[in-house]
Amino acid sequence: MYVCLCNAVTDKAIRKAAASGCHSLAQLRCELGVASQCGKCARQAKAVLNEATTQA
Ligand code: FES
Repeated sequence: MYVCLCNAVTDKAIRKAAASGCHSLAQLRCELGVASQCGKCARQAKAVLNEATTQA
């Protein structure tokens, strides 16, 4: 599923980034470009990140 349409970032990509040490939205933005354009995905991206980091 795409989380960020502007940058074509999937939930899978976010989980992968979380597994390799990305633990904040700012870090995700640096790594994947999430929420760097329209910003609509920020909430969803954070939710996926939280889920991934609490499951790890
Ligand atoms: Fe992510 Fe627009 S959908 S910045």
